[in-house]
Amino acid sequence: MNVTFRQLKVFEAVARQGSYTRAAEELHLTQPAVSMQIKLLEEQVGLALFEQVGKKIYLTEAGREMHYYSRTIAQELNEAERVMEELKGVQRGRLVIAVASTANYFATRLLATFSQRYKHITLSLDVTNREGLLRHLDSNDADLVIMGQPPSQGLDLVAEPFMENPLVIIAAPGHVLVGEKKISLKRLQQETFVVRERGSGTRTAMERFFTDQGVELSTGMEMNSNEAIKQAVEAGLGLGIVSIHTLALELELKRLVILDVEAFPILRHWYVVHRQGKRLSPVAQVFKEFVLTEGAQTVRMPR
Ligand code: PGA
Repeated sequence: MNVTFRQLKVFEAVARQGSYTRAAEELHLTQPAVSMQIKLLEEQVGLALFEQVGKKIYLTEAGREMHYYSRTIAQELNEAERVMEELKGVQRGRLVIAVASTANYFATRLLATFSQRYKHITLSLDVTNREGLLRHLDSNDADLVIMGQPPSQGLDLVAEPFMENPLVIIAAPGHVLVGEKKISLKRLQQETFVVRERGSGTRTAMERFFTDQGVELSTGMEMNSNEAIKQAVEAGLGLGIVSIHTLALELELKRLVILDVEAFPILRHWYVVHRQGKRLSPVAQVFKEFVLTEGAQTVRMPR
């Protein structure tokens, strides 16, 4: 049955109005155009849908059946149109975000606040290190990426900063350097550092900083999570360098101490990033705007 939506729409109007003339007026068509659509529909169906008694038209049995389906199809189409409009309007979108492992300490708070505002969106969050984020950007498979300083070469990126990301040196409360003022970078050379894995933004920033300062650190264990670094430092395995965002709980419980070191903290920033020319979905656009304008206030910086 090769029936068009147009035929069904015309049929539905004629059936409801009980008149070709009134249906034509409603649809802003001429009466012959309406008759033509009904004739085509009847040919496709292979049955008469109306019968004329005197001046009035009535639905045949086939017409009544067809009226039922044409109404259902019209309702489904209206529903589809409404869902598409909602999608355009953020209400039911899907948001795919990838964040640095270090950013995960505040990203969940951002997402929680955002999803309270837009209750019907679906969120997907991937937490990975800087290298993983660069892969996401390369394959363009996330709506937005939250990361530290993005690379200036290679991919064409749009990156906007929204919050500071200070890197600090942490020690166990019993460490000899706790309480010292303005510890020199040279003095740090006598210490062992527990460091993040290669591919971590924290690690890259730390290495660049000490190379620029002409200081060579002795690095001990390498660990691929901030949690592991903090536990190792707390256990006395060395000093650590982490983002202050990872420390809320440990500072509050006095399980770790931030050392007062010259030229510290290393000041970095968090960026919201996507590929140049990417067509952001409406929900991604709204989320990006939210992060840029309210991100820093939404996240509480540990003291
Ligand atoms: P990361 O953090 O160390 O978890 O990769 C990203 C960054 O600071 O750039």
